[in-house]
Amino acid sequence: MFWFELWREFKLSIAEILSAFKNKEVFFVNKKILILSWISKDEILEKSKFLWGTIKIFEILWSKNTSENHKKDIEEIFLNDFWIEKYIWKFNYWVNIFWNTSLKTDDLLKVSKNAVKSFWLNPRFLNHDKKNLSSIVIIKEALIKKETDFNFLFVEDKLFFWKTIFVQDIYSYSNRDYSKSRDMNVWMLPPKLAQMMINLWNNFLKKDLVIYDPFVWLWTVLIESVYMWNKLVFWSDKSESMVSSSTKNLEKLLKNFKFDFKIIKQNAKYINEVDFLDKVDLIVSEWFLWEIMTKNNISIERIDRSKKILIDLYISFFENLKKVNYKNNIVISFPFWDIKWKYLFFDEVYDIIKKDFLVINLLENNTFQSTKEWSLLYKRDSQLVWREIFLLKLK
Ligand SMILES: C[S@@+](CC[C@H](N)C(=O)[O-])C[C@H]1O[C@@H](n2cnc3c(N)ncnc32)[C@H](O)[C@@H]1O
Repeated sequence: MFWFELWREFKLSIAEILSAFKNKEVFFVNKKILILSWISKDEILEKSKFLWGTIKIFEILWSKNTSENHKKDIEEIFLNDFWIEKYIWKFNYWVNIFWNTSLKTDDLLKVSKNAVKSFWLNPRFLNHDKKNLSSIVIIKEALIKKETDFNFLFVEDKLFFWKTIFVQDIYSYSNRDYSKSRDMNVWMLPPKLAQMMINLWNNFLKKDLVIYDPFVWLWTVLIESVYMWNKLVFWSDKSESMVSSSTKNLEKLLKNFKFDFKIIKQNAKYINEVDFLDKVDLIVSEWFLWEIMTKNNISIERIDRSKKILIDLYISFFENLKKVNYKNNIVISFPFWDIKWKYLFFDEVYDIIKKDFLVINLLENNTFQSTKEWSLLYKRDSQLVWREIFLLKLK
């Protein structure tokens, strides 16, 4: 059994995990964690490095019924179920606790420290603010390799004891985000979301996914595709300067990754003119979300103006994909707006996509539902224009 600690957009995280680990049994899910059973550790470790919606993954070591005295329960685990002989003398460790226990971290540390000492080891705690350990410290202290980041989960009358086997490599993610030259007035997909959009359709069974972004600008989606070791990427953009500036990112990547690519200048309205669509497994993209709006200047008039421009392109874009019978998949994000604390969705684009395309429910048979349109939402508190993500397939 493995426990996935979910990112703040938990529905997106759950959809990504269930797409990557198709048909695995969901043992438990809530807004913070998803527990899968009947799955191998190898499969988890192989795919987890590409799962951006997962903060940490824990492997179950032990579970037992709790008694009234949780402190006693923890002590017993440390004394009996711990395989202490495999640890070195200098024992740098930390214990995270989750849920229904009145135990304070201090109690836990005292109990565990005495137990560890009883095995003649020299315990050292790694967290001074007594909170659950952040990924940064786990990476810095190499606790995954040392297998000394422990997690206790109290659920009803059960105590589950886990060790952390994976934490998200936040350094490489932020490096991807901040290393790109960008214009803050033009929407760029957050690399994390770009990776998750790929994974919403990706069950990792098909090696070398061929991904195409027809609104490429900064290459955000394709960089993620190359980081996943995919060997072929296609991209296009209407603007010559975007095609050339995206080439810069390309050169940087070619230093570390071997892959083929094709760039063309193309107005996506006439995507039927593209001659490589039959080689594409997945179109993953986001055009503009249009105007950046603030609390002081957001208005229905401005939103309607944005919608008008977006509708004009999307009508042709989807009609022409149908014209060339593009049978593979599309993961695409459209804007929606937060105006006076009410969500204003882009209903008009629903009619455009539903005319010829099926919307795939990204959270089927799950405790949590996708929207009534079967999309998933991505919001950033600092903004008023947010993202609605769809997985589409030609009818
Ligand atoms: C907001 S940017 C896309 C950013 C991209 N999703 C990213 O995260 O890097 C929109 C891009 O669409 C391009 N574009 C605008 N109209 C287009 C059209 N009709 N066909 C193709 N590209 C277009 C612009 O040149 C710009 O590069």
